[in-house]
Amino acid sequence: MAEDFAALRWDEPDEHLGGPVLVLLDQTRLPAEEVELACTDVPALVQAIQSLAVRGAPLLGIAGAYGVALAAARGYDVEEAAEHLAGARPTAVNLAYGVRRAADAYRAVLHEGGTQAQASAAALDEARELHAEDARGSARMAEHGLRLLGELATGGGFRLLTHCNTGQLVSGGDGTALAVVLAAHRAGELRRLWVDETRPLLQGARLTAYEAARAGMPYTLLADNAAGSLFAAGEVDAVLIGADRIAADGSTANKVGSYPLAVLARHHGVPFIVVAPTTTVDLDTPDGDAIEIEQRPGSEITEFTAPHTFSSEMSQPGGGVPIAPLGTQAYNPAFDVTPPELITAIVTERGVVSPVTAGELAGLCAQAGNI
Ligand code: MRU
Repeated sequence: MAEDFAALRWDEPDEHLGGPVLVLLDQTRLPAEEVELACTDVPALVQAIQSLAVRGAPLLGIAGAYGVALAAARGYDVEEAAEHLAGARPTAVNLAYGVRRAADAYRAVLHEGGTQAQASAAALDEARELHAEDARGSARMAEHGLRLLGELATGGGFRLLTHCNTGQLVSGGDGTALAVVLAAHRAGELRRLWVDETRPLLQGARLTAYEAARAGMPYTLLADNAAGSLFAAGEVDAVLIGADRIAADGSTANKVGSYPLAVLARHHGVPFIVVAPTTTVDLDTPDGDAIEIEQRPGSEITEFTAPHTFSSEMSQPGGGVPIAPLGTQAYNPAFDVTPPELITAIVTERGVVSPVTAGELAGLCAQAGNI
């Protein structure tokens, strides 16, 4: 994160709040306001996850791990907490992964005869380690991604298109796809960042544009359905996106609207690059059909909620201005799946998989050692 703020932090015991607190930067309020949300229990964190106050695959994993630590430190039932947290959103595999890591650390200490306090400390240590690993992984992805861009695209600076938000707001470091963009910017190689607004919850307009502006990047916001004309005009050198879950065959679930970009990119001969840590690869999910796609409330489509009024209540019918006849049914999947044959490369902290095949992906994930 930029030196002056973080997407989340763990606050040590506070006498008014009766124990440790997980403090989130409430992403539903950006860019209008930088408001912190203090979670003192697991239901509050689950609500924050479901309302997208905290969001994005890597950060969901980190938040889930801290959530287990919070439950342990405050004396709640850790097994029940872990189950609720892991099930709060179904698609991003990092959430269940982060919860599992902290819960396993907690259980291991109890199993060895340790005290509740020692088990609780182990859960917190694990959450902190995951947070730090994410920052380190982010830096590696930025290096690998920038090198790959240099190999794939040529000419005086890259014109990169991205979707959703994959930067410092979703990470302990600079993020995933946006970390590569930021590295290109820092190297003086970013000619333009094209930012998809990312309907319906506007993560691109509200969050990626916010990060791009803070970093001083040359960026332009576009309506999602304007991307085709940009490709047609030859204005895109590469597409960079993150991922919520990568199946064993390389099929990639990411924010809805990613798959149409992959089709456009293929049609126009533009590289389509997925940037994600290996913790987003789920070898237990064989292919794209097996990825559970979160379905969001129809009111996110049938109503318009102005960004500065986004709040945890926004998903409730009646929370925004109706933009469709009353009773209109809406199709609102949060993610879509891009098949491996449309993906030029998957960039991870351990290296790059290209072409994207099950064998290459499994080989990369099998490499020993944490970063
Ligand atoms: O619904 P969201 O905002 O949590 O969706 C986030 C995305 O789709 C991101 O692209 C993905 O988690 C990768 S974040 C590095």
